[in-house]
Amino acid sequence: MKFFIDTANLEQIKEAQELGVLDGVTTNPSLMAKEGIVGQENILQHYRDICNLVDDKVSAEVIATDFEGMVKEGEILAALDDKIVVKIPMIRDGIKALKYFSDKGIRTNCTLIFSSGQALIAAKAGATYVSPFIGRLDDISTDGLRLIEEIRLIYDNYGYETEILAASVRHPMHIINCAQIGSDVMTGPLSAILALINHPLTTNGLATFLADHAKSQEVTA
Ligand code: G3P
Repeated sequence: MKFFIDTANLEQIKEAQELGVLDGVTTNPSLMAKEGIVGQENILQHYRDICNLVDDKVSAEVIATDFEGMVKEGEILAALDDKIVVKIPMIRDGIKALKYFSDKGIRTNCTLIFSSGQALIAAKAGATYVSPFIGRLDDISTDGLRLIEEIRLIYDNYGYETEILAASVRHPMHIINCAQIGSDVMTGPLSAILALINHPLTTNGLATFLADHAKSQEVTA
């Protein structure tokens, strides 16, 4: 499974990249706003800065909600760097924009997916990725992971190449469950990625190994 980090914070992206397990970055307008990036030029420069930190795949979201606006913005974003994936919302004009970019060979990420029907039509429009928001479904007492299972089944039935990018991942169990179900990608916060590493038996076991080693060195010294 590919690991993307879901942030526009350069320090966190750098930290994840240095870990050596990062396959990409996803951003959204809220995450960009959180970093205080204001104005079109600064926003474009921030995407360039992110692209310079990572090896591949940086999702950058359009703000327009009409077809012409999405095409115009998406083309500007795609021209920034080969790593850019144009992120497009799941709305009627978004479907048209997905098809437009797909026909031009520009990668897309269809965002705000909350049903398998939305994932199906995005795949038919040629989306490179679909982003089901599993955490936000869990927030309203709906099973976010069940949606990943439904989309996996539909895509496998017809051999759709669109990749399932589990988004709104909140904790390490979301990542593990997505991997069990067969999500192609997950995007989550650095904290959820780092939490995969920890286990108290590992911590205690390593402490014992190091203590035993230190003791043995004292005896022979
Ligand atoms: O990738 C989508 C994601 O950023 C949404 O996450 O935690 O705001 O629901 P969250």
